[in-house]
Amino acid sequence: MKDSTCIYIHWPWCKNICKYCDYYKFKYKEDIDSIDIYNCFIRDLKDLEEYFHDKTIASIHIGGGSPSIMKTKLLRNILEFIYKNYKNKKNIEVSLEANPEDIFYKKLKEYKNIGINRLNLGVQSFSDYVLSFLGRSHDKKQAISSIYKSSEYFENTGIDLIYGIPGDIKESFENQLIYATELPIKHISIYEFEYQNNFKKNYFLSKYRKILEQKKFFLYELNSYSLRGYQSFYNASVLGMNNYIGIGPSSHSRVWKKNNFIKLRNTKNIKKWSNPTINNYKKEILSQINAIEEFLFLGLSTSDGISIKKLQKLSNNDSTKYINVKNINDLKKRRLLFEKKGRLFLSDKGMLLINSIVSNLIAGN
Ligand SMILES: C[S@@+](CC[C@H](N)C(=O)[O-])C[C@H]1O[C@@H](n2cnc3c(N)ncnc32)[C@H](O)[C@@H]1O
Ligand code: SF4
Repeated sequence: MKDSTCIYIHWPWCKNICKYCDYYKFKYKEDIDSIDIYNCFIRDLKDLEEYFHDKTIASIHIGGGSPSIMKTKLLRNILEFIYKNYKNKKNIEVSLEANPEDIFYKKLKEYKNIGINRLNLGVQSFSDYVLSFLGRSHDKKQAISSIYKSSEYFENTGIDLIYGIPGDIKESFENQLIYATELPIKHISIYEFEYQNNFKKNYFLSKYRKILEQKKFFLYELNSYSLRGYQSFYNASVLGMNNYIGIGPSSHSRVWKKNNFIKLRNTKNIKKWSNPTINNYKKEILSQINAIEEFLFLGLSTSDGISIKKLQKLSNNDSTKYINVKNINDLKKRRLLFEKKGRLFLSDKGMLLINSIVSNLIAGN
């Protein structure tokens, strides 16, 4: 928890804005190149240095937006700054989220040269009908071609898929999952379509899980599956309450310092962020109960669950002050919660009720 840090780099621009997407992003225009983007990212790193200069960087995750439209030279300069100025883990994971239409051999080669070793492709669907419904710039053929090209350079290639899209029943999301597992990928994140949706989530999620587990893709957190040993290092760190720092507009960070969890939020105001002389982070010290609540929610959303020892440590060895022990026993009796080898974790059914279970576990709720 104390010795390593992940760095998240948020690139907020996209060539095309998808109508369903509510992530923090803007339409890319040529004049963006006139912003001193390099120095804005470096300013963010320097603003946060006091929280991680003595830590080892275990992973760097470049997300967005569409970071695959970033000029490779800019990305290389930012990565080189991190490689040169901080302690880096020997096998540091450097991961980038890419849109399939941005994948070319030349770019893949450049990515490899600047230290990227994991690519996650926003495939979303293998159905041309669904892709056009979503207004995506790629089609099925391009999605598949980008996966094969990426896997030639990156053994660790993953994809995102979206389920619950209107009209998708016809194309059957299950067939898409089976199809995906035959491709050279190691990781699949599945997202529920969030847009005027009334999908029967729980029923379908357990079906999808069965399909993927038969193909040896294991669920390791709420919506991500991977072959053994290919969990995203960044996801695992965020969920395991390890330190992560975020640079770029709207990014957030969570660090453990002097026995406190500290959250740092970067501005969402793109004009402010784009001025490298302005410092933008707002700091919040998490109360003990909020830190425990976050620890429970994130940890229980993973297949490994939470360490009881870590829970005790976070509660200054007095977990009963924060946790409702009667409710723990009750949840165990109802087979929603299990305890094994010093860890608490949720059953499949429990996982689907995680919000109410965490609220139940907090004393006084
Ligand atoms: C922030 S996006 C970045 C990826 C990349 N720009 C792309 O679109 O391929 C990360 C992932 O969030 C998911 N996502 C975005 N909007 C969504 C929505 N409204 N409902 C469900 N999933 C969504 C998609 O699977 C997407 O790949
Ligand atoms: S390309 Fe990705 S980040 Fe950009 S609008 Fe579409 S889904 Fe959102």
